Amino acid sequence: MVCILAIETSCDETAAAVVRDRHIESNVIASQISAHEPFGGVVPEVASRAHLQNINGVIATAMAEAHCDWAAIDAIAVTCAPGLVGSLLIGVTAAKTLAMVHHKPLVGIHHLEGHLYASYLAEPTLKPPFLCLLVSGGHTSLIGVYGCGQYQLFGQTRDDAAGEAYDKVARLLGLGYPGGPVMDRLAQSGNPDAFTLPEGNISLANGKVHPYDSSFSGLKTAVARLVSQLRDTHGENLPVADIAASFQKAVAHALTKRAIAAAVDHGFTTLAIGGGVAANSGLRQHLTAAATPLGIRLIFPPLRLCTDNAAMIGCAAADHLRQGERSPLSLGAKSRLSLLELGQLYGR
Ligand code: KG4
Ligand code: ZN
Repeated sequence: MVCILAIETSCDETAAAVVRDRHIESNVIASQISAHEPFGGVVPEVASRAHLQNINGVIATAMAEAHCDWAAIDAIAVTCAPGLVGSLLIGVTAAKTLAMVHHKPLVGIHHLEGHLYASYLAEPTLKPPFLCLLVSGGHTSLIGVYGCGQYQLFGQTRDDAAGEAYDKVARLLGLGYPGGPVMDRLAQSGNPDAFTLPEGNISLANGKVHPYDSSFSGLKTAVARLVSQLRDTHGENLPVADIAASFQKAVAHALTKRAIAAAVDHGFTTLAIGGGVAANSGLRQHLTAAATPLGIRLIFPPLRLCTDNAAMIGCAAADHLRQGERSPLSLGAKSRLSLLELGQLYGR
C-alpha cells in the first residue's frame, strides 16, 4: 500500500487529496467558479491569488478528513504541467515545501495522466491496454494507455478543446460560465435536428479526412453565424434550446465517431472517458449507442472524478512511486508538456 498526499492547482480548482493506492481517503476541492464568473472565463491572475489563499486550508482539510498524520504519508504528489503557470507554481511550491519539511519523496504528475487515472479510481481492477477519450476545457485527446507512463496519442483537436467550444458558445448565447453544464441542460429540451452544424473534420493532403483529429473552432464560428442570422429574423428571442441541442449533437457525434474508430482500428475493447465534458449527457448517449453493439466496454468515472481533482493525481503518483520514480526538488511548473515527454519529470 502506498499513501499519497496529492495537490492539484493547474487551473481554477484548488484541490488536495489523500489516496491509498486506488482508494480515496479524502478529496477536497475549493472551486473558484464564483471568482471567475463575472469575467466569463478563467482569469489567470485571479486564479493564482485564489490558489494562494486556499491552498493551506485545502491541504489541512484533506489530511484531517483522511485522519492522516505525516508519518503515514509515503510521498507528496503535485500537478506540475501543463496548465496556467502561475496556478501550477502555487501547488508545486506547496508540495516541494512539504516534501522538504517532512522528508518525503516528491512526485510531479502530468495533468492529463491524472485525468486518465480517474478511470482507475472508478474501476480499481481496470488493467491496460485501454483507450481513453479525454475531453476537458483544455484538452480533447484520444490516448492509448499501455501502462503507467506508457501512452500513445492517436488523435487530438487542432484548435479549441471540446469544453472550450462549449464555454465559448455559451458565452455567445449569454449563458454564463462555465458553459458546458447549462448548455447540456438546455439541450435536453431542444431539437437536435433543428440546425445542421459542422463536425469539424480535418482534411488531409490526399483528399481524405483525418480519422481521429478534430477541429472545434469552425463549429463555434458556425454557431456565431447562425446566431447572427437568427437575430436578424427573431431579434433577441433566440431558440436557445434548439441551438444548444444541435450543437451538442454535433460535438457528441464528432467525438463518438473518432473514439469508436480508434478503438476498432487499434483493437481496444475498453474505452474510458475523462475530463469535465465526460459529464455531458449527449456524449454519454452517443457513445453508449455506438459502443454497445460492438461489445466495447465504456467507463464513465463519476463526475467529481472527471473534473479537476487531486485524487486522480495521487492515484497516478502511487503507480509512479511503485515504479521507483520520483521527481527532484528542482521540479518546476510548465505551461506545456506533451504526455509523451512525461519521463522528464522523473529524470528519465
Ligand atoms: O476537466 P475540467 O474540470 O477542467 C479542465 O481541465 O479543463 O473540465 C471543465 C470543462 C469546462 O469547459 C466545462 O464547460 C465542461 O468541462 N463541462 C461540460 C459539462 N460539464 C462540464 N461540457 C459539456 N457538458 C457538461 N455537462
Ligand atoms: Zn483538467
